[in-house]
Amino acid sequence: MAPIRDPNTLSNYDAWRTRHTTANLKIDFTDKCLRGSVILELESQTDKASKEIILDSSYVAVSSIKLNSAPSTWETKARTEPNGSPVHIAVPEGAAKGEVVKVEIELATTDKCTALQWLTPAQTSNKAAPFMFSQCQAIHARSLFPCQDTPDVKSTYDFNITSPYVVVASGVPVPNETKDLGEEKLYKFQQKVPIPSYLFALSSGDIASAPVGKRSCVCTGPNELKESQWELEGDMDKFLEAAEKIVFPYRWGEYNVLVLPPSFPYGGMENPIFTFATPTIISGDKQNIDVIAHELAHSWSGNLVTSCSWEHFWLNEGWTMYLERRILASIHGGDAHFDFSAIRGWKALEEAIKEYGEDHEFTKLCISHKGIDPDDAFSTVPYEKGFHFVWSLDRLVGRENFDKFIPHYFGKWSNKSLDSYEFKDTFLEFFSAPEYSDLKDKIASIDWEGRFHSTGLPPKPEFDTSLADVCYELAEKWKSKDFTPSPSDVSSWTGNQVLVFLNAVQDFEEPLTVEQSQALGKVYGLSESKNAELKAAYYHIAMRSKDASAYQGVADLLGEVGRMKFVRPLYRGLNKVDRELALKTFEKNREFYHPICRQMVEKDLGVAEAAKSS
Ligand code: BES
Ligand code: ZN
Repeated sequence: MAPIRDPNTLSNYDAWRTRHTTANLKIDFTDKCLRGSVILELESQTDKASKEIILDSSYVAVSSIKLNSAPSTWETKARTEPNGSPVHIAVPEGAAKGEVVKVEIELATTDKCTALQWLTPAQTSNKAAPFMFSQCQAIHARSLFPCQDTPDVKSTYDFNITSPYVVVASGVPVPNETKDLGEEKLYKFQQKVPIPSYLFALSSGDIASAPVGKRSCVCTGPNELKESQWELEGDMDKFLEAAEKIVFPYRWGEYNVLVLPPSFPYGGMENPIFTFATPTIISGDKQNIDVIAHELAHSWSGNLVTSCSWEHFWLNEGWTMYLERRILASIHGGDAHFDFSAIRGWKALEEAIKEYGEDHEFTKLCISHKGIDPDDAFSTVPYEKGFHFVWSLDRLVGRENFDKFIPHYFGKWSNKSLDSYEFKDTFLEFFSAPEYSDLKDKIASIDWEGRFHSTGLPPKPEFDTSLADVCYELAEKWKSKDFTPSPSDVSSWTGNQVLVFLNAVQDFEEPLTVEQSQALGKVYGLSESKNAELKAAYYHIAMRSKDASAYQGVADLLGEVGRMKFVRPLYRGLNKVDRELALKTFEKNREFYHPICRQMVEKDLGVAEAAKSS
């Protein structure tokens, strides 16, 4: 019996393990809830020793639970933060080791569900229909239905979903199985690769679809379809083929993208079959589709091979950043591109560590999650510290050797979950083979404990700065008050180069003057940019310069995008220079934001308690 090693689950998954899940759910747009039944097939890990099954739940209304088709004795226990209310189901006789029991739960989600956002027709772009989508990572699946909500347990899935509108899910659509039920239709999907609960995903609304590759389509609102297709169609096959060359063939069948309304709180979410993505990647210039390379890379790192708890989240995100950069470098031209992206990551890491303080627990690669909500510990640290660790191993053993380790690692751990020490053992075992004996001393020099558990920055590598140098040179010029900028300074640059330049300016010891900041926005077209990354970076400079004429633009942007990467820092910035406007803007847009985003901004603005008691 493997021990429980995830502090963010209350389930007793050491005694029972979910092997298959059937979700029979109706999407009720009138009551804004999911209702129906979920059937969990759980395999006993003990020989009749365990007499109860404990599942995670959070604000779910359970009406009945059957055990092997008979009524059962069950109870939802008191809620504790951050893990929610465990549901205890009696199994009076227990079950022999290996025996599978069936738990059938009748339920409805409630208005406190943190995994779903419901949009009225008026909140959608063509106003034709309501819209809903889920976001389960990290521990929100338990607010959809009781389950073993831990990445350490994987289950296959059947989705039987009824809705009046098109449904998308994290499974393969079952052909010709869409049944007409009058006003509603039954949509069926299957996920035959076992997945953790956080990858369960649903969306429904007025969704249209267009092909973007041999194995791929893009789905989005009918008004957005053409531009989404244009943005993605040139690169999907290239991304897939590049990733397959680095790791091994894609195992999930289709790879599609659902482009969501602007309140989607992340850049992307790697839901299998259907990556969910923010519409800010559809910027009309193909400058933001690195998000898709990232989510696609999760098809190996995260979705096939999964960190066993949020304490080892770097195994998902650090590896994915590494694969993302390898994929993009292989398409866009090699090491200089890889290093340029890594330099941006290093900068983001430095900033995150500065913000936390360099002794903070959340600056460790492996972050203790006892009593911690994973949403609170979420930051760029596991992404970039994780990336730097993986990259350091690559450089240590050499690219040719590391390229042999990659498929070995992903093959060995496919359909499983692991912790950092199992990763270490896999690496050491692979490189202990006789053909790598010349690497012995190098391998022995790896400071695993330091890498896993030290706070602050990891050792800084030497970067190829060729693509970044021009950005720094332009930034240097802006240090002089006499510099006269011209659009041609940046007109041949990529969006990411402009970002590196803006980050350098943001780091000046002295802020730009109001006049300089305004010239920056105007001459380089930043205040009017369709690229939310650029616009947000510019607004941070404007706020640092106390250019009050930009504040309304910040407030407007905060009403247009709900991606937390932009929203949270912009609120923190606006809060510093004009708290009143920050609070007013938040109140105005409260309903626009996803529940997770709303909660995080409430914490950031210090209005969490006020909001709870009202
Ligand atoms: N899996 C994450 C998103 C996530 C992480 C959701 C933790 C909830 C909890 C996804 O793969 C991701 O990392 N998205 C990034 C994309 C970027 C790194 C290219 C994002 O949303 O910005
Ligand atoms: Zn990711």
